[in-house]
Amino acid sequence: MDSRKKLRLGVLGSGAGSNMQSIQDAIEDGTLDAEIVCVISDVSGAKILDRAAAAGVDAAYIDAAPYKTKLDGEAERKYIEYLEEHGVEVVVLAGFMRIIKEGLLSRFPNRVVNIHPALLPSFPGRDAWKQALDYGAKITGCTVHFVDTGTDTGPIILQKSVPIRDDDTPEVLHARIQLQEHDAYPEALRLLAAGRLKMEGRRVKSGI
Ligand code: GAR
Repeated sequence: MDSRKKLRLGVLGSGAGSNMQSIQDAIEDGTLDAEIVCVISDVSGAKILDRAAAAGVDAAYIDAAPYKTKLDGEAERKYIEYLEEHGVEVVVLAGFMRIIKEGLLSRFPNRVVNIHPALLPSFPGRDAWKQALDYGAKITGCTVHFVDTGTDTGPIILQKSVPIRDDDTPEVLHARIQLQEHDAYPEALRLLAAGRLKMEGRRVKSGI
């Protein structure tokens, strides 16, 4: 039996959960030394909850009302309680469509990470793949970063690029970005779990 302590991940998501699945798959195939100990969704019936259940991971829908775009107040308190009950060390945002506020960030300092479907600092916010396409960018991609109080402004851990083709539609481009995301998130968490990430101001160095 492996006696090393595994990094305990708590995943928050609002949608399909394909990134959560890529992390779980990396754990199951032995390439990521971590454990998803719980999943929370702010959307009842979200597919991410089904994926968690299928993987035998504790999962909960926790309503984040009355807010529509942020996690705050009583809802934030409930999320923190659930994460702490599960002994979460790192909070992994995987398609969680709300702004994270100071309350949760201060409980998990430098321990909240996010994946964004563009090369930050370009195209923060929603539908980033469509923003890149409409802008006429020729290259976009995905970014894994630490979360701070801004919107998609935290220190960058790693990025992967995706060329934009003439015949791309938003859906086709997003699908190609997601393929990169599914490599990028496990890779970033591998570095984090191995203690390889060193912060120097805004710069995150991984020895690569
Ligand atoms: C992913 O593409 C992720 O980058 C994006 O939502 C999708 C979730 O997919 N996140 C954001 O846009 C956050 N601003 P998933 O539920 O299949 O992992």
